[in-house]
Amino acid sequence: MKSFHFLALLSLALAFSFASAFDPSPLQDFCVAIPEPKNAVFVNGKFCKNPNLTVAEDFFFPGLNVPGNTGNRVGSNVTLVNVDKLFGLNTLGISLARLDFAPDGGLNPPHTHPRATEILVVVEGTLYVGFVTSNPNRLFTKILYPGDVFVFPIGLIHFQFNMQRPMQLPLLV
Ligand SMILES: *[C@@H]1O[C@H](CO)[C@@H](O)[C@H](O)[C@H]1NC(C)=O
Ligand SMILES: *[C@@H]1O[C@H](CO)[C@@H](O)[C@H](O)[C@H]1NC(C)=O
Repeated sequence: MKSFHFLALLSLALAFSFASAFDPSPLQDFCVAIPEPKNAVFVNGKFCKNPNLTVAEDFFFPGLNVPGNTGNRVGSNVTLVNVDKLFGLNTLGISLARLDFAPDGGLNPPHTHPRATEILVVVEGTLYVGFVTSNPNRLFTKILYPGDVFVFPIGLIHFQFNMQRPMQLPLLV
């Protein structure tokens, strides 16, 4: 079954500036200033650990070599490495995911990341990917093979589809 398993890695990054220092993009639609913090909510990322207590493990996540289980309705599985799993990512504006697709039509359904650009590299298999521009609606699609990289620009609806069927696989001796 190993050959039927298709894998893509992608990372999500907020828009970067070429300046050597920059403010991160806001993670919320707005942030109305108020003079008294007791009526405030904390929004931008999570609270920061005391740097004196920070250890190497805070920047570490193991196990991205383990396939996700694709036995679900859409036939795909996203293993997210975001700030909930890798605390050192907090406020850095980047995350990573492993995508596994079931053979014969595993699908990561159309969706959007309103504040992040996505870049994907195919590690194994054959993937049909695409995105739609907002105005006018133009569809850009491409068939990707191992080693291919594709970028989904910030905010645009996109999808990935495993078009490789078991019968089309070469014989493995
Ligand atoms: C971190 O350690 C330094 C040196 O001991 C100390 O001056 C500083 O207050 C500590 N910072 C925090 C946030 O505890
Ligand atoms: C994805 O795979 C993990 C690991 O096998 C599993 O725990 C999880 O339920 C799967 N998610 C979906 C949506 O199938």
